[in-house]
Amino acid sequence: MEAAVEVQGAVKSFGLVRAVDGVDLRVFRGEIYGLVGPSGAGKTTLIRMICGLLGRDAGEVRVLGHPIPEGKRHVEGRLGYMPQERALYRDLTVEENLLFFGQLNGMPRGEIRDRIAEILEFMRLSHLAVHLAGNLSGGEKQRLSLACALLSKPELLVLDEPTVGLDPALRQEFWEHFHELKDEGHTILLTTHYLEEAGRCSRVGFMRAGRLQVEGLPAELQARVAQAVGGTPSMEEVFLFFARKGVE
Ligand SMILES: Nc1ncnc2c1ncn2[C@@H]1O[C@H](COP(=O)(O)OP(=O)(O)OP(=O)(O)O)[C@@H](O)[C@H]1O
Ligand SMILES: [Mg+2]
Repeated sequence: MEAAVEVQGAVKSFGLVRAVDGVDLRVFRGEIYGLVGPSGAGKTTLIRMICGLLGRDAGEVRVLGHPIPEGKRHVEGRLGYMPQERALYRDLTVEENLLFFGQLNGMPRGEIRDRIAEILEFMRLSHLAVHLAGNLSGGEKQRLSLACALLSKPELLVLDEPTVGLDPALRQEFWEHFHELKDEGHTILLTTHYLEEAGRCSRVGFMRAGRLQVEGLPAELQARVAQAVGGTPSMEEVFLFFARKGVE
């Protein structure tokens, strides 16, 4: 299977903290890969390396077949990134935020306008087009942030906790979008702390202390934990098992 993301031996330290400590990761085209793991495990650091936003101490990263030079963005337009710290301009309107993002990604001016209208509709934000981003509700900000990531119809979406703090209906809506995008052939790499969401991913990788400790289909991970503790564990129990006891 062709990989959309290939990471080999990635290492990144901040002072004494080895945030990413030798990670190999492959995300195949057309899958939803969920990265889970305790806070501080290194998920965001790994993601920022993949997006070319952060340098690395060692290792190789390839995205959509291109080697990613350290700390450089390389596949603009083909990679849509939703950062954990939502990067919206509070003093720009919803529409202006999208326009700015489109220009930043080198989208042709003529194309941007039509695409903005389309994505506003898709994200149910059309009625807020001329509102300042700073005045949006939390869920609306998140919809705008996802709209920015989707604007250029990127082949690869990298979404850092896209559903955090959303009401259950909106979370459900986001997941319907993710599966729609997957069905259209997009690849999604996301992080989440909601373990029932991990069960909706094609594959799940569990990160702990800078390492990718275990990965597999959700059912495979459940089966592995079931062998150890018996019963049919929920994804939450799977998480707690790997977080507490560890493996290998
Ligand atoms: N720019 C930075 N400078 C210093 N330390 C950093 C920096 N970025 C991350 N770290 C440290 O690296 C470790 C991993 O952080 P990271 O944000 O990657 O974790 P995470 O798995 O995304 O956690 P969360 O689930 O809370 O988002 C943490 O100990 C964090 O304090
Ligand atoms: Mg994070």
